[in-house]
Amino acid sequence: MHDVSKEHIVSLTGKAPRESQVEMTELVLPNDTNLLGNLLGGRLMHWIDIAGAMAASRHAERIVATVALDSLDFRHPVRMGELVILKAKITWTGRTSMEVTVNVFAENIKSGKTILTNKAFITFVALDDAGKPVPVPPIIPETEEEKINFSQAEVRRQERLKKKSIEENNGLTP
Ligand SMILES: CC(C)(COP(=O)(O)OP(=O)(O)OC[C@H]1O[C@@H](n2cnc3c(N)ncnc32)[C@H](O)[C@@H]1OP(=O)(O)O)[C@@H](O)C(=O)NCCC(=O)NCCS
Repeated sequence: MHDVSKEHIVSLTGKAPRESQVEMTELVLPNDTNLLGNLLGGRLMHWIDIAGAMAASRHAERIVATVALDSLDFRHPVRMGELVILKAKITWTGRTSMEVTVNVFAENIKSGKTILTNKAFITFVALDDAGKPVPVPPIIPETEEEKINFSQAEVRRQERLKKKSIEENNGLTP
């Protein structure tokens, strides 16, 4: 007989961030840029969302939905012809939600120089086939950096939930 409860328990065994991390590389083409030849912010946000969603889906082994993207600074322009490397990793898990960090690097192919241009935190929720939130496996941070990110994540989460609650009270959400 198919043991559904056992399968559920096994799938919720803790996982390390390295097991779901994602590295995604994009070449900045003319259609990705503004009139100055710099990468469009919206295009970068799209790539950040995709890289983060892949890491979250791998961790949860589920479809995921984005529920929050923390503010994003654009520290350096990325030029047409450069490579954009996005590294996504789970930093924290709740019951059904996960925080993912995405570090963005720009690589100049000719000089070989690589710089960190953006850092984002995104929250995803794992969903079942009916679109309802479902539990995710707990994350087990391993490296020093992962442990720091994990320990600071609860503060970031409380900030997001506070902001959500204020917006709801002000009637700013649908
Ligand atoms: C994802 C969705 C189904 C969740 O529904 P919901 O009613 O918010 O569900 P819950 O209140 O149970 O929240 C689910 C989890 O998300 C967390 N969450 C919800 N909103 C959040 C926010 N703004 N910031 C951080 N976490 C949030 C909750 O704390 C909860 O986490 P936990 O289970 O780890 O404790 C619903 O919010 C939704 O459909 N949103 C739109 C998603 C979307 O269209 N995204 C863009 C395309 S992918």
